[in-house]
Amino acid sequence: TSGPELSSGEPAATKHHIVLGFSQLGSESDWRNANSQSIKTAAKEAGIELLFENAEQSQEKQFEAVRSFISRKVDVIAIAPVIQTGWVPILNEAEEAGIPVIIVDRAVDASNYVTLIGSDLYEEGKKAGKFLLDKMVGRPGPIGIVELKGTEGSTPSIDRGRGFADTVLGDKRFKVLESEHADFTLEQGEKVMRSFLQEHGGEMDVLYAHNDDMALGAIEAIEAYGLRPGKDIVIISVDGTRRALKSMAEGKINAVVECNPLLGPNLMQAVRELTEGRTLPKRIVTPETVFTEVTAELEADNRKY
Ligand code: AHR
Repeated sequence: TSGPELSSGEPAATKHHIVLGFSQLGSESDWRNANSQSIKTAAKEAGIELLFENAEQSQEKQFEAVRSFISRKVDVIAIAPVIQTGWVPILNEAEEAGIPVIIVDRAVDASNYVTLIGSDLYEEGKKAGKFLLDKMVGRPGPIGIVELKGTEGSTPSIDRGRGFADTVLGDKRFKVLESEHADFTLEQGEKVMRSFLQEHGGEMDVLYAHNDDMALGAIEAIEAYGLRPGKDIVIISVDGTRRALKSMAEGKINAVVECNPLLGPNLMQAVRELTEGRTLPKRIVTPETVFTEVTAELEADNRKY
């Protein structure tokens, strides 16, 4: 799909039609849906033709999508990878076909891609941990924590877990009672939290959920159990969706670390620059904040997703 050549061999100055193949990992959460929407809207606004494939949590389907993009000779491939490992062979295939790859949101254990656009997921875990340390100043231990982790092997689950543990567990008051994967979904969050409550009753003081959807599911389980989320159990989650901020405004969540899903404009800019022959930094990090009860109501009203 490259532009017409001038007789000198130089590409024509006119902007050529760009085709981007994007492999989205799924539609497990409000964050993910906002991310997909952002990419579709931004592509339209940038005049970039988007081939969008949703892999519904299957790495195998992501490979198939990438292979179809290669056979359709797209200009650029972007991948939001479901898990971190296993990408080297397919990235090699794209490289051999001469198609540059941009990684979006989650990381891959490989190096032959152009850039990774997305949040610092380890830093998000650290921010969650710092909030908890501040919240618990002067409180004697033991302080029991339960953790709802995201998809096993995915970067946000690995990095948010490590960032939180590295920040909090040096303080001997804190004890992790349970830590289980709940796949970033509301349904699993509710189910796993129910099993935590059956096992530990009211013994737990803190829930750290790796995303808002799991926290919202857990809140349903906590209320059904007869405890008050945000009061009997301190709740910290990650993302910053409207539903979570509303729940925080009602006092049911104590802090939400922001993870920005609106990566579409950054991605389209990177695609355009790449096709113009510019060099991109290996890492493009999106700036983010932490929401607490103080600003929740205002933020919830402003939220687009
Ligand atoms: O990779 C980003 C994470 O994936 C978001 O925090 C979560 O909501 C999503 O499913």
